Amino acid sequence: MMTQPLDTIALSDVIGAEIRDIDLAHIDDATFTAIHDVWIRFQVLRFRNQKLTDAKLVAFSRRFGELDIAPPNENGTRDVEGFPEILVISNVVEDGVEIGSLGSGEAAWHTDMSYIPTPPIGSVLYAWEVPRRGGSTGFLNMYRVLETMPDSLRRKIEGRYIKHDATTNSAGYLRAGTENSDDVRTSPGTAHPIIITHPETGRDTLYLGRRHRAYVVDMDVDASEALLGELWSHTNQKEFTWHQEWSVGDLVMWDNRCTMHRRDAFDSKDRRIMHRTQIKGCALIADDRKSKTRRSTASL
Ligand code: SIN
Repeated sequence: MMTQPLDTIALSDVIGAEIRDIDLAHIDDATFTAIHDVWIRFQVLRFRNQKLTDAKLVAFSRRFGELDIAPPNENGTRDVEGFPEILVISNVVEDGVEIGSLGSGEAAWHTDMSYIPTPPIGSVLYAWEVPRRGGSTGFLNMYRVLETMPDSLRRKIEGRYIKHDATTNSAGYLRAGTENSDDVRTSPGTAHPIIITHPETGRDTLYLGRRHRAYVVDMDVDASEALLGELWSHTNQKEFTWHQEWSVGDLVMWDNRCTMHRRDAFDSKDRRIMHRTQIKGCALIADDRKSKTRRSTASL
């Protein structure tokens, strides 16, 4: 194994970098440190033409930290025997059984597992099979979203928390083991500060999680909906995004603390199979001390 100097190009002027000519199955510690630095700087990384077994995918992901056990998919099963850290994201049905999660429909903008107290800091997604068209994955730069936010809107969210709903996933499926609930105030989930400080860059960033059943803690439901509407309409702007169009062997990883992602729908007759790992996180840091005053009501 040799230290490989990184050949890096930006994927857009908003977010993302590609590191070229690298074999992730064989990297040394110095190369890993360099990759980590580029990841923190660009928020999303792409590596093309990888040939990774599940063991190699897990080994590469583990360099970034301990891994989460994959959440059960919507049909309640876990996916890859021997690798509980891997979630299969797929529309493929074999012998009448779905081999993974999320089907072939659109997956709305979200941050992975923001509904738990310690959301993963990063996710690693590796393409086994891709559809002929569609199924691309978009990324949002949440630092940029916060930096461009009108002051009047920023003032409304400083010190506040959003409760992130745990009942449905980004494709709208009910999570195994949860009960459907229409009351955003009481549905299961975890509250996190809306503005967080990224622990590695020290930069403030907006942490929205997902829109469905979100609730701004301590507000009337109508006022919460109105504030969320304002936040999402500022966030959901093309100028903050870049989209990954997949080829087999692509590995894309993102920093969940300062990005959101979504997936385009694709033809359900095509096959899409992705294997995902997630790097365990810790509680998110509020941007300032004001947030502490609201913490008493934040763990709903
Ligand atoms: C995800 O939301 O983690 C998966 C995105 C994708 O399948 O492109």
